[in-house]
Amino acid sequence: MSNTRQPLRAGILGATGAVGQRFITLLANHPGFVIQRLGASARSAGRRYEEAVTWRMATPLPASVASLVVVECKPEAFNDCDVIFSGLDASVAGDIELSFLAADHCVISNAKNHRMADDVPLVVPTVNPEHLHMIPAQRLRRNLKRGFLVTISNCASVGVCAALQALKAKQSVLGKVDRVNVVTMQAISGAGYPGMSAMDMLDNVVPYIGGEEEKLEAEPFKILGTPHTTVQQVKDQVANGKVAEARKLATAHQGALIEPLKDFVISATCNRVPVIDGHMASMSVGFARDAKQANMNKETMLATVKEAFAQYETLASSKALGCVSAPHPPIHLLDAVDRPQPRLDRDRGNGYAVTIGRVRPCPL
Ligand SMILES: NC(=O)c1ccc[n+]([C@@H]2O[C@H](COP(=O)([O-])OP(=O)(O)OC[C@H]3O[C@@H](n4cnc5c(N)ncnc54)[C@H](OP(=O)(O)O)[C@@H]3O)[C@@H](O)[C@H]2O)c1
Repeated sequence: MSNTRQPLRAGILGATGAVGQRFITLLANHPGFVIQRLGASARSAGRRYEEAVTWRMATPLPASVASLVVVECKPEAFNDCDVIFSGLDASVAGDIELSFLAADHCVISNAKNHRMADDVPLVVPTVNPEHLHMIPAQRLRRNLKRGFLVTISNCASVGVCAALQALKAKQSVLGKVDRVNVVTMQAISGAGYPGMSAMDMLDNVVPYIGGEEEKLEAEPFKILGTPHTTVQQVKDQVANGKVAEARKLATAHQGALIEPLKDFVISATCNRVPVIDGHMASMSVGFARDAKQANMNKETMLATVKEAFAQYETLASSKALGCVSAPHPPIHLLDAVDRPQPRLDRDRGNGYAVTIGRVRPCPL
């Protein structure tokens, strides 16, 4: 987001939780936002934020929010906010976020509840920012004037989708990605606080994260998918002031506004490992190749794959949008045989870059 605009007034739902605290840490010093309102459950409402929260971030609680009084997550309490970030627990996020949307708020959610809905963008900013173009169609389908609901993906999908999007850009040379086997080694922080007990995690690997494999085997199809032609048509009509025509188009096409990536399978295995922050994934990728592509020698193929990752910067249009926190480059490609490593590489691009290494031919 450009730092020449007036800062947007941000509200945070679930502000006392692990994700809410991360939102506060990221927004408190961001030139594009000012934190206006903090919401949590009735247990926390009415208390000053510094009293309601058990602050677990590695940086101090920002003074600008310490004395804000926490409110319940009711839409009317956030009427003076331009944008709402939701870090609500999934057990309550579904209904609360819909109540904010019905009140025409602009909601960006970290929760899983609405990610796969037909008219809700599921966005990894460095992968598919163009999916935000479905907002005009969403507004018309749901009778909204200014509001919208945008979701961000499961954390393990971010790195997987960045790598696959980079390879997709080279598919004329490499062939189309048609199969992926991914094994994740996911950090403890992904389970929130307090997460798993030390007795479960120390000296151990837990080969199961509830619901995670299902998400990793579903979200990339949407994230890597293509906006339906209706999306651009509605956007153009709205831009030209032809709202009635745009509404007809938006409601005539009742299915998903994103056509998912087809002819592609993912097999995912997710493990929880004793690392505090930074998820790692080991991926094997197969390509459907025509005769010419199949004749490419291994060295050329490897060089092209590496080039795909190294050149990915030019595709990341979140930089073109002027987002000050967008990582440049979004993918760091390392040659060292023992990288990436969570502790050494997780802070690249302020924690938002994806680091790829050990790129090599796979006999699978
Ligand atoms: N942790 C991660 O790394 C991570 C990653 C990706 C996605 N997520 C998703 O993000 C969401 C939040 O995760 P988290 O780890 O931050 O959870 P958390 O630490 O348990 O925080 C949950 C937040 O929701 C609030 N809340 C709970 N019940 C509520 C209610 N009935 N009304 C209003 N607010 C309520 C809590 O407020 P009180 O303090 O007042 O109870 C708290 O602020 C979940 O959907 C999770 O799946 C988490």
